[in-house]
Amino acid sequence: MTILHAKIIGTGSAVPERVLTNHDLEQMVDTSDDWITVRTGIKERRVASEGEFTSTFATRAAQRALEMAGVDPADLDLIICGTVTPDFPFPSTACIVQNDLGATRAAAFDISAACSGFLYGLSIADKFIKTGTATHILVVGVEVLSRIVDWTDRNTCCLFGDGAGAVVLAADKSSSGILSTHIYSDGSYWELLHQPGVGNRNPASQQLLDSGQVFIKMQGNEVFKLAVRAMEDAAHAALSANGFSIADLDYLIPHQANRRIIDAISKRLGLSSDKVFVNVDRYGNTSAASIPIALDEANRTGALKRDALVLLDAFGGGLTWASVLMRW
Ligand code: ACO
Repeated sequence: MTILHAKIIGTGSAVPERVLTNHDLEQMVDTSDDWITVRTGIKERRVASEGEFTSTFATRAAQRALEMAGVDPADLDLIICGTVTPDFPFPSTACIVQNDLGATRAAAFDISAACSGFLYGLSIADKFIKTGTATHILVVGVEVLSRIVDWTDRNTCCLFGDGAGAVVLAADKSSSGILSTHIYSDGSYWELLHQPGVGNRNPASQQLLDSGQVFIKMQGNEVFKLAVRAMEDAAHAALSANGFSIADLDYLIPHQANRRIIDAISKRLGLSSDKVFVNVDRYGNTSAASIPIALDEANRTGALKRDALVLLDAFGGGLTWASVLMRW
């Protein structure tokens, strides 16, 4: 029996035009370019303008990925959207993207796994393709975090940004493509990183708005430590499941939350900086969008060579974490 691999045949990304620099933030909260740069590595981030929504960027990124893949939207079997900032609580943003693209045959749903959402989506898509259930799948990671960030809270407002990245996966009979996916969760840490309302526990009310409970809450220090450990474990799990060692790895594309987290993981893994993709300086933490935006940049700039062994590694609210190993 022929083994089918899920292979990425197109990548795309889309970010808002509007740039918010650290110097802009200095005018808004008690912070400095120096503090943000040293603690996070972020210099600027993109912020959606009025009339731009999560689906706006998701659809644009998807169109670019479909164009590169040479796939007609009507040939998509499935659309999976990783996001914690959907256009609406329901319907899913994936359904809105399906309509915007004219992907009339595709089933569509969202994944809520915070910054790991894109890799969770890839993991699901991989299973659909390997079992022969789907041939062409669009996976999108997208966020408009600027609408759930408290712009008066210096602890969080400098960290996040908006944007989308997308990939088109196709069933491939060669040995390249996704080799393995690993997904993990530990719900005992859910309170470390969450948005209290609006939701079933905290329904819409004036009091909810006044108390700032509609914004992201994060215990940054704790998240930092857990992220480094979990991403290192997920990287080792991916390599050992396929009989590889760190020396075999050509490229690591980690979740872009914080330069210090990326450096700590690279150091623990023993990876030199030329093998690690970083763009957190330009976009901040775009949660589910960070890996697919980075992947698209790496792909379009020619950083990913054919047959390269590429590792994607994510961590986020939930807590969730994940890794995907690919032969490019
Ligand atoms: N400007 C100036 N000072 C600040 C700022 C700011 N923007 N933010 C916090 N500070 C202050 C704090 O108030 C604190 O002051 P205090 O000591 O007087 O109380 C001091 O700086 C140190 O704060 P810490 O939180 O200890 O700083 P730390 O070095 O841990 O850096 C940071 C904070 C950047 C949030 C870091 O913990 C981090 O990156 N954590 C991971 C966060 C993250 O990546 N989350 C998302 C991952 S999961 C996902 O992507 C959804």
